[in-house]
Amino acid sequence: MSTLHQTKLVHNFNSGPSVLPKEVFEQASNAILDFNNTGLSILEIGHRTSLFEAVLNEAISTLKELMKLDDEHEVLFLHGGASTQFFQVPMNLLDDNETAAYLDCGTWGTKAIKEAKLFGNVDMVASSKDRNYTYIPKGYAIPSTSKYFHYTTNNTIEGTQMHAIPETNVPLIADMSSDILSTTLDFNRFSLIYAGAQKNIGAAGVNIVVVKKDILGKVSRKLPSMMDYRSHIENGSMLNTPPVFAVYVCMLTLRWLKQLGGITEIEKLNDIKSKLLYDTLDSLPIFRPKVDKEDRSKMNVVFVIDNPELEKLFLAECKENGMVGIKGHRTVGGFRASLYNALPLESVQALTELMKDFAHKH
Ligand SMILES: Cc1ncc(COP(=O)(O)O)c(C=O)c1O
Repeated sequence: MSTLHQTKLVHNFNSGPSVLPKEVFEQASNAILDFNNTGLSILEIGHRTSLFEAVLNEAISTLKELMKLDDEHEVLFLHGGASTQFFQVPMNLLDDNETAAYLDCGTWGTKAIKEAKLFGNVDMVASSKDRNYTYIPKGYAIPSTSKYFHYTTNNTIEGTQMHAIPETNVPLIADMSSDILSTTLDFNRFSLIYAGAQKNIGAAGVNIVVVKKDILGKVSRKLPSMMDYRSHIENGSMLNTPPVFAVYVCMLTLRWLKQLGGITEIEKLNDIKSKLLYDTLDSLPIFRPKVDKEDRSKMNVVFVIDNPELEKLFLAECKENGMVGIKGHRTVGGFRASLYNALPLESVQALTELMKDFAHKH
């Protein structure tokens, strides 16, 4: 029986936390009242029970399956959001006298660089700051002596995305918070991947870390257990109480993606959604996409109207038509439509129809 009572039609373009599949909301709601016919709420079961172990195991195995990870890679569900990974990564991997290479492609990458400098040297191999992060730098060299190379695969705020994995012989580390599981990649090429769950994986409150075991245990500093990836691996993401409900929502979302046919299938839908929106933007001169064409993000579409009055008007029309989360980040302005995995094609169709109508009127 469905306990979901959503009467209002809403198109959710939020950048995160963001849209999740309707069936996940239904199942999660039901589990708050009665988890798997146990008579208990998911919120009141112990994390060391077989009930929760089954949830965590399914979340881990489904993620491994979706990402086609080999046995060298471990999957962790940790606290602290992707922002904790900005410092946990260098804390575990970079000694004081060592240098890591970083790409500076946007707000989140800049934050990762700032934190890494607390633990060692940072070689910023390239930056797109000169044009307000509206493109992805190309043709830079990653010194082979770097301890690792860190980059953000998708720049959530600025709306750019790396469409290929950089060629390098040093360990690759990526913040995939806003495009993980949206596009097929050889995830095994990475030594460490992290992502906050609250976009394509599930609910806020948990982040995933995929780590290749061979890069760990090489720094000389002492690590607090909660910061040491090895202690989390040894304890199967149960070093302390995990965010039980957030992990459960992730498991349901991962199960949904698997049933849909996995990353290759969702990628087809993501391509259709982003193409429809970019084609519409390109055909209507009133709207101006902000980033270089070749670097456009399929997850976060950033655009402006070069007239503040019309911008306000368009925003008001979006609101009237049940479109939420379309306002751009305060540092960038304009608009941002986030097209994460769970956003239905119908929402993009509704937005593009509204855009055409608006362009016609103005
Ligand atoms: C690419 C990227 N990295 C990191 C973060 C920070 O994530 P959190 O709020 O989970 O720390 C975000 C948040 O939107 C993001 O988009």
